Amino acid sequence: MTITPRPGIMDIALYQGGAAHVDGVVNVLKLSSNENPYGPSDRAKEAFSRAAHDLHRYPVTDHAGLRTAIGDVWHLDPTRVICGVGSDEIIHFLCQAYTGPGTEVIHTEHGFAMYRISALANGATPVEVKEHERVTDVDAILAACTDRTRLVFIANPNNPTGTMIGQAEVARLAEGLPSGAILVLDGAYAEYVEGFDAGLALVESRQNVVMTRTFSKIYGLGGLRVGWGYGPQEIIDTLTRVRGPFNLSTAALAAAEAAVRDTGWVDRCRADNARWREWMATALAELGVPSDTSTANFVLARFTSEAEANACDDYLRTQGIIVRRVAGYNLPQCLRITVGDESACRRVVHAVAQFKGAR
Ligand SMILES: Cc1ncc(COP(=O)(O)O)c(C=O)c1O
Repeated sequence: MTITPRPGIMDIALYQGGAAHVDGVVNVLKLSSNENPYGPSDRAKEAFSRAAHDLHRYPVTDHAGLRTAIGDVWHLDPTRVICGVGSDEIIHFLCQAYTGPGTEVIHTEHGFAMYRISALANGATPVEVKEHERVTDVDAILAACTDRTRLVFIANPNNPTGTMIGQAEVARLAEGLPSGAILVLDGAYAEYVEGFDAGLALVESRQNVVMTRTFSKIYGLGGLRVGWGYGPQEIIDTLTRVRGPFNLSTAALAAAEAAVRDTGWVDRCRADNARWREWMATALAELGVPSDTSTANFVLARFTSEAEANACDDYLRTQGIIVRRVAGYNLPQCLRITVGDESACRRVVHAVAQFKGAR
């Protein structure tokens, strides 16, 4: 008898993280993983350091401190918050609890890779739906729904396109789903959008909408792995049953709690990101590299062809700059460039200008 994994597992293409090194190059500029160039707030770092004194103790299992902080800052019910090892883990919980063989999970054409990976890991069938000019297409999603659909994932803003759809469109999607399906609003980049509630009002008003969030982006805590979800009590109670009791470490919980309460730091990072994103997108467009209006902390730079995008990426690497190829997201002619600080933006634009000038 041969030992074989469950059907679907071997169909999973390994997740490609953003590269961080270029052989033989020092002073590498990493713009491949949408990280906050300023890192976490000082308060988060201090809380992390203080946690060193308690490393011999198990962490709390109920995450009450972090859930309360999230509730205070976002004005939501902390009993309906679940915390995970990055929002990746919340995505896993959802697939684990609500999908399986014979069910379908919808994601969009250029949607985040983990939706498909998690669906396959749980034996479900991922269903890819076309976007319209790199924007989520609500009608196409509704047309793809069947009585086997259990989860519909959309990221708003979307990664790697940076585009968003409006609240009315999101509400129309939630309203139109079959009765057995949950709409998952992935708000990994929501904090970058001034005044955006990430879909909170919709979660509050409906029984079929869940929101996921992360500390990896604007809070600058990608290395700690903390995310959260918010939804109807029944769904959160279900997810809590598949969550490991000690999934988050004491240090991670402490840093995330301090980070979410430091709203001043988040406001500064948002403003800075908006300023340099606009500058970088405009400068790249002037060089003949357009992008859609981004609402996140990256720009999806469009080249004339896949060959040109790859050649530019190769050139940037010779200059010690790492951006992200997105052929795996059905965008072979594009490169995703994280918005760094001023010097990072100037450095990448300068390098693209040299690349374009040399052609
Ligand atoms: C759209 C989207 N969702 C979720 C995540 C996962 O974030 P994390 O697991 O670090 O919270 C990412 C990370 O890049 C993302 O881009």
